Amino acid sequence: MDKIRSIENGERWLIAGSTGCGKSYLSSRLASLYASNANVLYFDSKNEGTGKAISIKTANDKIKSIITGNGQTYRIKFDGLDPGDDEVSSDLFSAIMRFPSRKVNIVLWFDEAFSIPDTPALRRIFTQGRSKGVSAIACAQRPVGIPRVMVSEATRYCVFNLNDKRDRDTVGAFVKGGVSEKPRFRFDYYDVLTDERINNIKVT
Ligand SMILES: Nc1ncnc2c1ncn2[C@@H]1O[C@H](COP(=O)(O)OP(=O)(O)O)[C@@H](O)[C@H]1O
Ligand SMILES: [Mg+2]
Repeated sequence: MDKIRSIENGERWLIAGSTGCGKSYLSSRLASLYASNANVLYFDSKNEGTGKAISIKTANDKIKSIITGNGQTYRIKFDGLDPGDDEVSSDLFSAIMRFPSRKVNIVLWFDEAFSIPDTPALRRIFTQGRSKGVSAIACAQRPVGIPRVMVSEATRYCVFNLNDKRDRDTVGAFVKGGVSEKPRFRFDYYDVLTDERINNIKVT
C-alpha cells in the first residue's frame, strides 16, 4: 500500500477480481484512509460489515448532516433488489451532486458494484463528481456486469485475478499494459493521472 501514491479526494477506484481474492479487504483499507477526513457511504450489499446499518432512504433523508459531518462512515444495507431502489439511489446521488457547497468531501464505497443501479444520476457521479469532491471505490467480481462508467471513469485500477477473459478484456482496455492472471491477494495497480503502473502488490 505504501507503494501507492497518497489518496486524494475526488478519485475513483475500480477494485476488480474474482471472489475471495481480497477486494473487500483492500477497499476497507482505502476507505479507512479516506475516513480520516471524508464521510464514507458504504454500500454493504452482502451485509458483511459490522455496526449499525441504515437504509438508503434514511441516508437520502439525512444527506445534509452526512455531508457536513467529519470523517464518519455510514453503512448502508443495499442490494438494489427492492422495488424503488433505482429511484432512491438516484435521489441520493442527485442530492450529493446538487448540494450547495462546492466541495462535499464524500466517498461512495460500493462493495459489490453489480448491485448498484446504472442510472443517469450514477453516471453523473462518475463523470462529474470529481470537481465536487466525490470519491468512489467500486469493487467488482465481474466487471462485465457493472455500470460501464465505473470501469471507464476510474482514475485508479487495482486488478486482482479475473477468471473470465471477458472481464480481463473489459478492465484491460483501460489499464495500460493490460491485466494478467495472478495468485490470490495480489493485484496490479494502474494510476491514470500519473500513468504509473505497479505489478503484483499485496496488501499487508
Ligand atoms: N492481503 C491479504 N492477506 C491476508 N488475508 C487476506 C488478504 N486479503 C484478503 N484476505 C482474506 O481473504 C478472505 C477473502 O477476502 P475478501 O476481501 O473478502 O475477498 P473479496 O471481497 O474479493 O471476495 C477474507 O477472509 C480476508 O480477510
Ligand atoms: Mg467482497
